Amino acid sequence: MKRHESMNDEPSTDHKPWAASSWRHHELVQQPHYADESALKEVLGQVAAMPPLVTPWEARRLEGQLAEAAAGKRFLLQGGDCAEVFSECKADVIANRIKVLLQMSLVLIYGLRMPVVRVGRFAGQYAKPRSSDLETRETMTLPSYRGDIVNGAEFTKTAREPDPERLLRAYHHAAATLNHVRALGEGGFADLHHPEYWDLGFVHQDALRSEYQGVVNAILASIRFTEAVSSERMSEMERVSFFTSHEALLLPFEEALTRKDSHSDDVFNLGTHFPWVGMRTSNLDGAHVEFLRGLANPIAVKVGPGMETSELQALVRHLNPDSRPGRLTLIARLGQEHVNTHLPAMIQAVRSTGIPVLWSCDPMHGNTETLSNGTKTRRFDTMLSELEESLDIHHVEGSVLGGVHLELTGENVTECTGGARGLQDRDLERAYHSQVDPRLNSEQALEMAFALIRKFRSLQA
Ligand code: PEP
Ligand code: CO
Repeated sequence: MKRHESMNDEPSTDHKPWAASSWRHHELVQQPHYADESALKEVLGQVAAMPPLVTPWEARRLEGQLAEAAAGKRFLLQGGDCAEVFSECKADVIANRIKVLLQMSLVLIYGLRMPVVRVGRFAGQYAKPRSSDLETRETMTLPSYRGDIVNGAEFTKTAREPDPERLLRAYHHAAATLNHVRALGEGGFADLHHPEYWDLGFVHQDALRSEYQGVVNAILASIRFTEAVSSERMSEMERVSFFTSHEALLLPFEEALTRKDSHSDDVFNLGTHFPWVGMRTSNLDGAHVEFLRGLANPIAVKVGPGMETSELQALVRHLNPDSRPGRLTLIARLGQEHVNTHLPAMIQAVRSTGIPVLWSCDPMHGNTETLSNGTKTRRFDTMLSELEESLDIHHVEGSVLGGVHLELTGENVTECTGGARGLQDRDLERAYHSQVDPRLNSEQALEMAFALIRKFRSLQA
């Protein structure tokens, strides 16, 4: 369908010309203030001259897979750190994160009986929105930490000063991360025959270990059966791919990695396959939505409880005027206490636009609590409730929940409470490493995958 033949009667703003820089004419929030504009410009020029990190055909392939997820034929597993940090751009940290995503995806493939599209919150997840521009500790007030691409987390004047050089460092760290992810995939790490895939060294909880072992045995048995029948190795399944995603927040940087595809003239953000805008930057007329609007990538928007249904409809029309399946993912992050009151009307409102979207659930960002000692945490059961209730609601509405969006790490951290090992508030100080939001550790992440398939199966029964 061509743009002017769109089924929508409402006026659409998509006829306005778009360029990778047209966001500059819109209201721009959540940005650092750089003292030296010319240094910023110089570094942006250097980033713009670097090769892209991903390719247009990869982004198109992802869009095709997201379209399948929207139709209930595939499931999107999107996960990774809340904020990547430069100091954790290390082989073992990257491999452990890949490992937990692989193992979760295996549980999902087995339990949902459908393929999974794996998308990491990595290789570029360096910029963070903050509730305040400034942070005060005792008598000192400094700029808030906005992620390693902007400034340092340490509470000193030097560290907190936004530094343009960090843009180039972010590019190089993203490239190194992605290179390692790709090398692991090519090198057989993600081959179903490879023992790394099955290793559960991090799981200390017996019930979880044996549940996982059951899935592994079932899958290995079917691989052996298929290979015996066909007398070939399952080469198609041997290579498991990962796509990358991050919040497209620091727009000058995002623009510098946005390039025209010479074959199609389409314009892609080639800094990532799948950019999203966060809840704080999803304003219809704002710069971030304007930037996403003209990209040829598949894109996502985080949807919070403050979004009116009319606003959501306008966003959907604005961002997917051609009704491209797989183009637009809505990541609902409503919070367990709001999901029942908000999600049904949102699903109905989006459906009435006639525009296809992929619904995903982020059960983390609406459920963050701050303890009396100031520690931010999230409770496993609250998150699971939001996820389960979302599945119920989509089921009742005849809609599809086609994905989940999680903050997780392959490291053995103690940032979220609950889960099979019953982490308590007092355990949090043991291994709390996140500078921003609390993440599921690898055990909790795997448990979440099992809980999801249990719920999914109960709805199928
Ligand atoms: C995030 O994903 O880390 C984030 C800040 O999310 P949201 O925009 O949903 O608050
Ligand atoms: Co977060």
